[in-house]
Amino acid sequence: MTVIVTGGAGFIGSNFIFYMLGKYPGYRIVCLDKLTYAGNLSTLAPVMGDERFRFVKADICSREDVDRLFAEEKPDIVVNFAAESHVDRSIEDPGVFLNTNIIGTQTLMDACRKHGIKRYHQVSTDEVYGDLPLDRPDLFFTEETPLHTSSPYSASKAAADLLVLAYHRTYGLPVTISRCSNNYGPYHFPEKLIPLVIANALNDKPLPVYGKGENVRDWLYVEDHCRAIDLVIHNGREGEVYNIGGHNEMRNIDIVRMICKELGKPESLITYVTDRKGHDLRYAIDPTKIHRELGWLPGTRFADGIKKTVKWYLDNREWWETIISGEYMDYYEKMYGNNEI
Ligand code: NAD
Ligand code: DAU
Repeated sequence: MTVIVTGGAGFIGSNFIFYMLGKYPGYRIVCLDKLTYAGNLSTLAPVMGDERFRFVKADICSREDVDRLFAEEKPDIVVNFAAESHVDRSIEDPGVFLNTNIIGTQTLMDACRKHGIKRYHQVSTDEVYGDLPLDRPDLFFTEETPLHTSSPYSASKAAADLLVLAYHRTYGLPVTISRCSNNYGPYHFPEKLIPLVIANALNDKPLPVYGKGENVRDWLYVEDHCRAIDLVIHNGREGEVYNIGGHNEMRNIDIVRMICKELGKPESLITYVTDRKGHDLRYAIDPTKIHRELGWLPGTRFADGIKKTVKWYLDNREWWETIISGEYMDYYEKMYGNNEI
């Protein structure tokens, strides 16, 4: 079995590659990644010498490169993680999000049609459903919840999802889609809330909280997401969407306080900054379908997962210190300089 994993030098894709190589000794895993600011080849260092693994630097929007790779590798399964993934960046500059997230998806699916595959899997997000009100804890996103996006990022992901379903209906492409809630864990890029707060706290820098910190996210340990995708690509029904989430809703401010406590840092580092434009209030996944059909349940409790994650950032300082010493600094200055309220 040959699996092409796009975006495998990023956060979730790299965790998925480690998971798959560990679980399936007979599988060949080919990672296709453009190595944007979010992709790090050093992340894949542990598997670079593995003869079952190949890394190819390419853009999912390049028909020529994608076609050549498919012709060489003849993949059975394609799992598309490659995306521009940060909401704040999509608000600043939507264009690259539309290109990678929509046109890139089309390019991959056209190659799948041409070369024939057993399964194309689109890694999507709960953000395609928009948000839920804070005062209705009884409401959850199901697979039937209408798509109702808020940011250029989520709009691009929803557009891609519709295209994937259209390729299934029109061309019979064997597709599945998973829509997961917020992930956390090792190799999370330090522009996202949890790793940013850990890195800043360790450097005794302000911890930026948007608005009042009351927005709610539904957090899942990254390995649980990888296990769910493994189940969907092998046992999920073609043409179906599967929501993935662990009923672990937390307010942003509570997460930040928890990290301060874990690191023994003072809450006085917390700094309230200007809110994100169009900021989604609450995400909450109903994972009944994937549990009922595929037997998936989350394995890591948040209290344990956040401890493991903090420990990983303490043990792997070089990984994130290298990142925050480069081009990232310009981004950080642009986003957070003079932004205190
Ligand atoms: P990430 O930003 O950490 O990694 C994205 C990877 O894609 C990087 O390695 C980057 O180099 C690569 N990439 C970007 N543009 C590319 C292109 N044009 N061609 C080839 N490679 C390209 O993202 P992530 O957080 O790991 O998210 C992976 C996927 O999961 C995304 O599709 C995202 O929408 C989805 N998702 C993320 C979360 C989350 O909490 N992070 C939750 C649900 C779904
Ligand atoms: O729900 C799944 C989505 O989760 C994925 O589709 C996205 O790719 C992923 O980036 C993530 O999106 P969020 O916008 O929820 O994640 P982020 O870490 O950027 O922000 C989490 C919450 O924390 C959100 O309410 C905004 C807030 N926040 C974020 C940052 C970066 C802050 O308060 N301060 C910050 O500095």
